[in-house]
Amino acid sequence: MAEQADVIVIGAGAAGLMCAAEAGKRGRRVLLLDHGKKAGRKIIISGGGRCNFTNMYAEPSNYLSQNPHFCKAALAQYTQWDFIAMVDQHGIAYHEKTLGQLFCDDSAHQIVDMLLKECDDAGVELKLRTEILAVEKTDVGFQLKTSQGVFECESLVVATGGLSMPKLGATPLGYQIAEQFGLNVLPTRAGLVPFTLHPEQKEVLAELAGISVDSYATAEDGTAFKEAMLFTHRGLSGPSVLQISSFWQPGEPVTFDLSPDESLVDWLLEQANSQPQLTLKNALSRKLPKRMVETWLDMHQLGNPAIGQISNKLKEKLQSVLHEWQIIPGGTEGYRTAEVTLGGVDTNELSSKTMAAKNVPGLFFIGEVVDVTGWLGGYNFQWAWSSGWLAAQHV
Ligand code: FDA
Repeated sequence: MAEQADVIVIGAGAAGLMCAAEAGKRGRRVLLLDHGKKAGRKIIISGGGRCNFTNMYAEPSNYLSQNPHFCKAALAQYTQWDFIAMVDQHGIAYHEKTLGQLFCDDSAHQIVDMLLKECDDAGVELKLRTEILAVEKTDVGFQLKTSQGVFECESLVVATGGLSMPKLGATPLGYQIAEQFGLNVLPTRAGLVPFTLHPEQKEVLAELAGISVDSYATAEDGTAFKEAMLFTHRGLSGPSVLQISSFWQPGEPVTFDLSPDESLVDWLLEQANSQPQLTLKNALSRKLPKRMVETWLDMHQLGNPAIGQISNKLKEKLQSVLHEWQIIPGGTEGYRTAEVTLGGVDTNELSSKTMAAKNVPGLFFIGEVVDVTGWLGGYNFQWAWSSGWLAAQHV
């Protein structure tokens, strides 16, 4: 005999936990299934263990999707302020780190515990270590064959996330279920991910591993982010790089302004009036890390003249390598370290008002499995909460 539920949610991550709790509050009998041994594993490691759970300034323009309008209804109906109210209600202390990003003061575990308590209070049955073996349509809903038995439901919510971090349980199951029911799935790729470099460049820049500088990173399509950039042993990382990686296509260049708030060329020329004998290296080292200045002068064969003797040609070159430094990344670190997966279930297949598949009654997709991807900064969790909450009102 199959165990019956009104709603089955596959995936006890951010979106699935929210959806299960809210559907339970509506009096629906909810079963939440996950193949992992813990719920909310990405939440636990997010934000360096403090979970950047939302962004005070979240709005639809912070999301990438083939249909940029799709996320509007969910984000408007369950906003960052709604989630913040839940966090407040549970007495979890938090702070704004930067740019509207809210983090727990203490630990990301508090967010998972909060969602588990919400689920528990709403009577949700959580089954972990449950492999989904088959999903089939029945006359009244869906039947799932799993490693823990057979379950039947009226509404099935797919909240299995994207492909990033397979070590934390990411699988393509959500895309497979979409395809099984005839929904289009857009090509996926890693987003919010460090860049790798071509071998020659990697060798030179690896010397700078650990150095972080302010930067203004610009992609081919003109999208730009002003945040820190970090040199690593493998390539480039840091918030500006992660952000721009979501807008980058293989083979395209990325341009960095390494002093976004001040023209270093103008500054050098000013210094040249009072200290013309100062060397270029010593002068620039007052503005940028010394190790980086040495590598930069070498790498771009700029020499080390006294700043009183900077020629027009050198001025142009300095402008270009400091304020318009262009590189073509070798690639990205891929799903192994990516924070998110771009692409996924085509939003044209779903109702933005309910998150249900337009042509498969009772089937819902929420969270990262859908082709809606946020910027770095708490936007992805907000999408998980908003889309999860919205589906919960309709399952
Ligand atoms: P999520 O990945 O959370 O959950 C999917 C669930 O489905 C998992 O529990 C998984 O085990 C389960 N599942 C998958 N396949 C299954 C199968 N075959 N059978 C059964 N269950 C299956 N975002 C943000 O806003 N702020 C932040 O601070 C961070 N930080 C961050 C750090 C790191 C290291 C990563 C990798 C990601 C982030 N993110 C983030 C992104 C954020 O974690 C992500 O967007 C959300 O967790 C997506 O929520 P979902 O519920 O859609 O998927």
